[in-house]
Amino acid sequence: LEKIILGNKLLNWYEKNARDLPFRQTKDPYKIWICEIVFQQTRINQGLNHYNNFIKRFPDVKTLATAEENEVLLYWKGLGYYSRAINIHKAAQQIMNDYKGTFPSHYEEILTLKGIGKYTAAAISSICFNGKIPAVDGNFYRVLSRVFADDFDISGSKAFTYFSELAHLILPDNVGDFNQAMMDLGSEICKPKNPICIECPLQEDCLAFSTNKVSDFPVKTKK
Ligand code: ADE
Ligand code: SF4
Repeated sequence: LEKIILGNKLLNWYEKNARDLPFRQTKDPYKIWICEIVFQQTRINQGLNHYNNFIKRFPDVKTLATAEENEVLLYWKGLGYYSRAINIHKAAQQIMNDYKGTFPSHYEEILTLKGIGKYTAAAISSICFNGKIPAVDGNFYRVLSRVFADDFDISGSKAFTYFSELAHLILPDNVGDFNQAMMDLGSEICKPKNPICIECPLQEDCLAFSTNKVSDFPVKTKK
């Protein structure tokens, strides 16, 4: 019960403090997909112009699928990790061929698309289709390990499953907002270095904070 309250505290904080980002005004899975791919490895400030220009030139799956790969790469220029752009282009063609041009709505289907892993599939599923799947990434590892003072090793292969199960314990109804709240909390408040605990909505529940051990978490043995 205490854990369900945690998820809702985070949601209340998010309602008042959510960052105003262009992709937050939409539930269009195409746009959410592109934003998740861009901003997984690129900071928001650094990728925002690229994202906006990309969406302007390729506003939907069909436009992207029928474009030349070279032009897609041109719009990716400066973002790095170019395999992301090549995969996006291929996945758009996959959606045309396998799903008649309509973005698939189920987590398992979304996972079949080129370049989309568990994190991205969970984000799209929850934000656009009300899927009940936590979008577990480094933010989840860091926040959850600190809140529960949990020393589970985040560098091991079992970390994803472990923290997914932990996340399920605090999942509120609105998982799409919950996932985005975790992204915002992890990047603005519960940062890797110098977290701003005095502004954190989870502070009174945070075991690492109350025992003055924030810097001990998350535990990472391998580099
Ligand atoms: N980084 C990746 N996806 C994001 C999102 N939906 N909101 C904020 N930051 C993100
Ligand atoms: Fe992170 Fe500090 Fe909040 Fe705990 S109180 S979740 S360590 S920001």
